[in-house]
Amino acid sequence: MTRRRILIDTDPGHDDAIALLLALASPDEIEVLAVTTVAGNVPLERTTANALKVLELAGRTDVPVVPGSRRPLVKDLFTAEYIHGKTGMDGPELPDPATAPATGHGVDRIVEVLRAEPAGTVTVCTLGPMTNLAAALQRAPDVAPRIARVVAMGGGVFEGGNVTPAAEFNIFVDPHAADVVFRSGVPITLVPLDTTHRCLSTRDRIERFRSLGTRVGQVTAEWLDFFERFDVQKYGSDGGPLHDPCVIAWLIRPALFQGRDCNVTIETASPLTVGMTVTDWWQVTGRPHNAFVTREVDADGYFDLLTERIGRL
Ligand code: BDR
Ligand code: CA
Repeated sequence: MTRRRILIDTDPGHDDAIALLLALASPDEIEVLAVTTVAGNVPLERTTANALKVLELAGRTDVPVVPGSRRPLVKDLFTAEYIHGKTGMDGPELPDPATAPATGHGVDRIVEVLRAEPAGTVTVCTLGPMTNLAAALQRAPDVAPRIARVVAMGGGVFEGGNVTPAAEFNIFVDPHAADVVFRSGVPITLVPLDTTHRCLSTRDRIERFRSLGTRVGQVTAEWLDFFERFDVQKYGSDGGPLHDPCVIAWLIRPALFQGRDCNVTIETASPLTVGMTVTDWWQVTGRPHNAFVTREVDADGYFDLLTERIGRL
């Protein structure tokens, strides 16, 4: 398998944190060139501090963390402390970061990396609102054809939304950014709620992380203990959906996922459905395909992969 060189754009967030760990624990398949942060689950200062904490936990302070956008392109910022707690990663006690963010702006870093690396070799993974990537595409349209692929967690097809009946959080927070990305012509893989809602952090799965007997395994279990309580109340399920690591898992082991090529168009105007990923799953519009959209996932295989990789850290 060819090793993917990736940028991770993220708003940690418990599930973002576990996605970062999965990527850092998989050096045979993935090289993380930089982490850029965005306001989303919590404001930018906290998502940046949280990214630094995760890299320190993983012993990977060589990876730069570059703070990006403080607010969406057009809308006011909407955050999710009601899910992730005040810090954005409530649960286990982690020390304040000892390392500092890199200088510069995350949007500039995305442009710089895409211009510096050979065209078609860098994959951009978005785990939060797509503000930074959209701003990069607007500022430097020449980078679009240089991106190998965008792999994004966001949206919902048959599953609807988790913030409104129509909209998933990442797209709802910055629908105008998502609209820019989905119109950009860059190949996209979209992992929507249809997939992530099948990836439940059940008690058994959490206990497997805990029983790794490592600090990282313990912290992962404690993050999930905290994160799942909201979804368990909301959905009445055994465990909450572990969304963002699906993006990294798709890169490492795409056979865990099934989906199809579709047209995805983002609703930006309607008060009722703003942030909806209008997905032509049944190919009824004739609009050109712009995304591979996942649906089915081997959830046991996904958690096996996560447990094995997090056990390496
Ligand atoms: C997405 O929203 C955030 O709260 C999670 O980190 C994930 O990226 C799920 O809707
Ligand atoms: Ca996220």
